[in-house]
Amino acid sequence: MTATEAPPLQLDEIQGIVLRDRPSPYVGTYILLRVDDAGAGRELMGRLAELVDSAANWWQPELPALLNAGLTYRGLEALQVPPAALNTFPDEFRQGMAARAEFIGDTGESAPARWEPPFGTGQVHVVLSLLAADQESLAVVLERARKAHAQLSGLQVVHRQDFYQLSTGRTSFGYKDGIGNPTIEGSGAESPPGDGSVLKAGEFVLGYPDETGNVPPMPRPAELGRNGTFVAWRKLHTRVAAFRRYLHDNSGGPEEESLLAAKIVGRWQSGAPLILAPEHDDPALGADDQRNNGFRYESDPRGAICPHGAHARRANPRDSEIIGDIRLHHMIRRGTNYGPPLAAGTLDDDGADRGIVFVFIGSHLDRQFEFVKSQWLNDGHFTGLDQEKDLLTGDNDGTGIFTIPQHPIRRRLHGVERFVITRGGEYFFLPSLSALRWLASPGA
Ligand code: HEM
Repeated sequence: MTATEAPPLQLDEIQGIVLRDRPSPYVGTYILLRVDDAGAGRELMGRLAELVDSAANWWQPELPALLNAGLTYRGLEALQVPPAALNTFPDEFRQGMAARAEFIGDTGESAPARWEPPFGTGQVHVVLSLLAADQESLAVVLERARKAHAQLSGLQVVHRQDFYQLSTGRTSFGYKDGIGNPTIEGSGAESPPGDGSVLKAGEFVLGYPDETGNVPPMPRPAELGRNGTFVAWRKLHTRVAAFRRYLHDNSGGPEEESLLAAKIVGRWQSGAPLILAPEHDDPALGADDQRNNGFRYESDPRGAICPHGAHARRANPRDSEIIGDIRLHHMIRRGTNYGPPLAAGTLDDDGADRGIVFVFIGSHLDRQFEFVKSQWLNDGHFTGLDQEKDLLTGDNDGTGIFTIPQHPIRRRLHGVERFVITRGGEYFFLPSLSALRWLASPGA
């Protein structure tokens, strides 16, 4: 099959979270389960096939609530999926996120040995993701999830992680997030004016041609793999006070502080991209979905407006000149916030746990999530920044550097510490609705 003959996406087979954005505001919870009995696990899959939300009509006004489900490789084993099928899953998924820690920068304080249990212990088999517009709708979808796993004695809830949108509508670091997401061919979405990049469906959903022009390998049988995808789920603690202090100590006042914050991410905290608003914040632009993602970097080859080391430019260099093919490294992000906000203006840590549950969705954990994390965020070679790491999310150790190109002399910040700590994470497979049915009686 050639890319031009790509079939339209089977939206009613694909799980809703792949295409549906979060409501705003949102509340939700992740329920993590361990399967102690294969029969109970299979029964759960059969029930979920009737209860999870698909991506059908995703463009219509948001559903009041969304239930989705994924499995780790250990989860597939616990269901006693036949080895012939298990062996068709990609290596990095089979190994699991903890085993990939060194490669993706989960070292030192972020090392799996220091993760919160049950992450990385092999005890997490299934995740239920519940996302709702308000507490009332969350209660309804919680009841739906309870129907799926209640009274199955071979299942244990091993963890629950609540999340919600902060009243500011932003992340704990103060930035609007979730703006730059790819447009997927065949999904019915149109790319925003000025962006222009539409990516092949196979980059994000298994069973379709991807940017290489081929249908990439997928788990077999096809009923199991097709219309599924992979998730990298990470609980990331954010050191908000330390980050604020860093901004404060490296600026000469509030205006400079807000410009430095913009240089660090490539967007003002309002979401307005530096490329479209180089000198001053433009909150109206930041809030406008039709305009806030419509830009490229061609007008700024030296990074004088948006540094090459800015988080968003690293994570998606768009049309920047770099080593490699950018189109092979895109991702869908569905991150959410957890923990209380740090009081406005405070530069001292209050000891609370707060941060982001980072959610990557894509067909290729290795060449999308792991590549971007290891090569683009935790290294600078691809864009001429030597070993400089992302200031915001890199595994810096107090000796990190951040370069801001400017005339007449570039500015170099030193002493960058680690502002984001991994508290745990897992790789999940997000099966199609048919695959959930297949998993209810695998190999039958
Ligand atoms: C606590 C951790 C993180 C924070 C606070 C954070 C914050 C942000 C912010 C504020 C933006 C700009 C707004 C937007 O485009 O949505 C952004 C963009 C982005 N981030 Fe992160 N991020 C985090 C971790 C990560 C990680 C681990 C990855 C990938 C492995 C990543 C990949 C991306 C991508 C792909 C974009 C979009 C860039 C674009 O299309 O222009 N982020 N992030």
